[in-house]
Amino acid sequence: MRVTIQEIQAFKDRSERFPVLTAYDYPTAKIIDEVGVPLILVGDSLGNVVLGYDSTVFVTMEDMLHHTKAVVRGAKRALVIGDMPFMSYQKNLDDALTNATRFLQEAGAQAVKLEGGEVTAETTRTLVDRGIPVVGHIGYTPQSDYQIGRRVQGRSLEAARSLVRDAQALDEAGAFAVVLELVPAQLAEVITERIRVPTIGIGAGLKCDGQVQVVSDMLGLYTDFVPRHTKQFAHLADAMRTGVETYASEVKKGRFPTAEHGSTLEGQVLQELLDSL
Ligand code: KIV
Repeated sequence: MRVTIQEIQAFKDRSERFPVLTAYDYPTAKIIDEVGVPLILVGDSLGNVVLGYDSTVFVTMEDMLHHTKAVVRGAKRALVIGDMPFMSYQKNLDDALTNATRFLQEAGAQAVKLEGGEVTAETTRTLVDRGIPVVGHIGYTPQSDYQIGRRVQGRSLEAARSLVRDAQALDEAGAFAVVLELVPAQLAEVITERIRVPTIGIGAGLKCDGQVQVVSDMLGLYTDFVPRHTKQFAHLADAMRTGVETYASEVKKGRFPTAEHGSTLEGQVLQELLDSL
């Protein structure tokens, strides 16, 4: 049975912390799902960590649907959230409804995520009222990178109050969880205490109800840029580099493949083949 949004709420109600990870492909989703992580986000961080863009602004609906389909095939139990890309929900409510529906109907996700607080409350309400579960996302919102810069949000009194209002607006609009990205830990705690639905932190301290990480960051797939909020729980880049180097070297030296990696013709067949040529 797939995890439901009611079970996600129950984590908060029982004061039980929960992990969330991003995934962009079938094998990664399968591992995350088998481990028992209850929520998988197909983040538009896809643009940065898989497609090689320097901003999520370039990610399209088609990119997101393609990768969400792969993740859904790998995740049998986790609830899969599709991240709505830049300008797929900001223009008007019809557009938002059409694109959110595509995540559920075409890609098989169970929910969508939108960036923005009070400004996306009406859109959130529209989707939720039509049966589309929504996760909100406030604090540092990468789709607004060019405007706000990649920095901690909510440090001043005014900014902090505004983020509290944003979280409350999304809660009231029916979001079933709210991501808090790059928010001071004490502010994340205040928000977590003041809204009914779970908060999911990334760079927002320990007091959020859940934590989310970009899977490539926490598995150490990149060594050139490691965000401050990331802990590397594995070192995939090193393991992959060693694997590729060893493979290349063994091919060059004629040590791979060996007999165990292939098949041979029976002696008689070989002889008859050679005689017939
Ligand atoms: O796109 C993404 O991966 C995200 C997470 C960082 C929350 O939005």
